[in-house]
Amino acid sequence: MNKTNFMYIVFEGIDGAGKSTQIQLLKEWLEANGLEVEALVEPTDSEIGKLIRKILQRSDATTDRVQKTLGLLFAADRMLIMDKLSDDKKVILSDRSFISSLAYQEPADWIVELNKYAKKPDLVLFLDLDVKTSVSRTTGEDEFENEEFLTQVKTNYLEIINDFNHVIIDANNGINKVSSDVKKAVASHVGLCKDCIL
Ligand code: TYD
Repeated sequence: MNKTNFMYIVFEGIDGAGKSTQIQLLKEWLEANGLEVEALVEPTDSEIGKLIRKILQRSDATTDRVQKTLGLLFAADRMLIMDKLSDDKKVILSDRSFISSLAYQEPADWIVELNKYAKKPDLVLFLDLDVKTSVSRTTGEDEFENEEFLTQVKTNYLEIINDFNHVIIDANNGINKVSSDVKKAVASHVGLCKDCIL
């Protein structure tokens, strides 16, 4: 197997869309095909990431004031992992990116400006889940996990992803079907055979 060039593949979607499961399955498949892979998660486990997770549980987390604070913190947290994106031999699979900030905080210029040092993804996989299913899959611990908010987030996503090289994957299907759709979307980008996917 030839060494692949660096690829930064980002998984996006509303809460409960199955990103972490699909990243794990894709990672195993790419590694079985001889590729070097690293998986990243945002928010990270840094001190800033821990603070973010606390703030996500505040009852005022969706207010404009706290969302602005979160926008700043997510951008800072993200900068801490940008050095991982300089390895030109690996495929990086990331659970979220600055696209989440545009969808969840605000699809606005100040978020773009704040994230101008964040690397742009080579490919965005949008796991498209029904909002009602999303809410039923989440714990409700985070203030964001409610139908009205996630409906707006999903609307934002469907607009924003048009600015990126993206594939929409129906995440309402079972894990195996979603996984094979993900592999098909990624295969040609990393030099693997689309027809070899089971
Ligand atoms: P997490 O527990 O990882 O949710 P999930 O596993 O469902 O993705 O928490 C991440 C939460 O943070 C999720 O609700 C999305 C939100 N988020 C933002 O609002 N802005 C961002 O920039 C990022 C990266 C995440």
